[in-house]
Amino acid sequence: MSLPEKVSVTAVVDNYLDVFEPPTPLVERAVAGKLKKPLLAGHGLAFLVDITNGEDSFCLLVDTGNAFESFRHNMEALERTPTEVDGLFLSHGHPDHYGGLLGFLEWRGEPLPVYCHPDVFWPKYLMTPRGKVGPWKLERDKLEAAGVELHCNSEVQQLRQGVYLTGEIPRRTPFEGPMPGAKIIKNGEDMDDPLVDEQALVVNMGDKGLVILSTCSHPGIVNTINYAKEITGNSKVYAVIGGLHLAQVSQEVLNQTISGLKESGAELVLTGHCTGFRPNCTMNRELGSRFAVSCVGSKATLAA
Ligand SMILES: [Fe+2]
Ligand SMILES: [Fe+2]
Repeated sequence: MSLPEKVSVTAVVDNYLDVFEPPTPLVERAVAGKLKKPLLAGHGLAFLVDITNGEDSFCLLVDTGNAFESFRHNMEALERTPTEVDGLFLSHGHPDHYGGLLGFLEWRGEPLPVYCHPDVFWPKYLMTPRGKVGPWKLERDKLEAAGVELHCNSEVQQLRQGVYLTGEIPRRTPFEGPMPGAKIIKNGEDMDDPLVDEQALVVNMGDKGLVILSTCSHPGIVNTINYAKEITGNSKVYAVIGGLHLAQVSQEVLNQTISGLKESGAELVLTGHCTGFRPNCTMNRELGSRFAVSCVGSKATLAA
């Protein structure tokens, strides 16, 4: 079997929504007045990723946003149905990514494969300048009660020819550090959360390069890009899509990250969710036409 020839990534839940954001050659925008109902923005992410390889097509739901209400509302507005999803990839154990998960399973009514790292089920919380936020916990029992086929992996996992979940991403760049204040409670013990549970989705489109979907980029987007190249053996990057978690980093770290994105040679850098307003503005200036901001309803289409 050959490598995927087309990948479409539709943002079902994202932090940002702007009906006037223009399309680009690789990114379509939802036209508000033509939808069944208006879209809703929310702090979180959910992507529908449609992967086509000849006659074979595969729809992977990546995360489910922060709340089922906005997730379902936007699925309906975009005229997508829960039963067209073939598998669900939960990128990491933060509630802005799994908030709609149990609701989605109930709405769908039929079990499906769910892919995640085993650490997504530990309770987690954040210590912030505004105090403690959380804890939250994704209940494994509830997923199992819904009949899901659970695939927990910490190593690379191949879902289809050319389609990979990274497993744990090695932290190698000197400038991409852990998320300040992130905590995990393991076996009753509170500790700093290294967020090893965050994995990225990587689609190898051969000569066109890699499509890298990184939802929160806690391991660092440059580490993620480097590891995607390593596991696929393909050093060409086609698109980097997702949340880059740069709002609180220093200007120096932001500059180094943008250098890494430039060096990747990606034709498209489409960022949303936790990327941050200032980093988006800087990337817009530095990456020019290769940069676009992700909005709810945005659809990136990458073809071989
Ligand atoms: Fe997030
Ligand atoms: Fe996160």
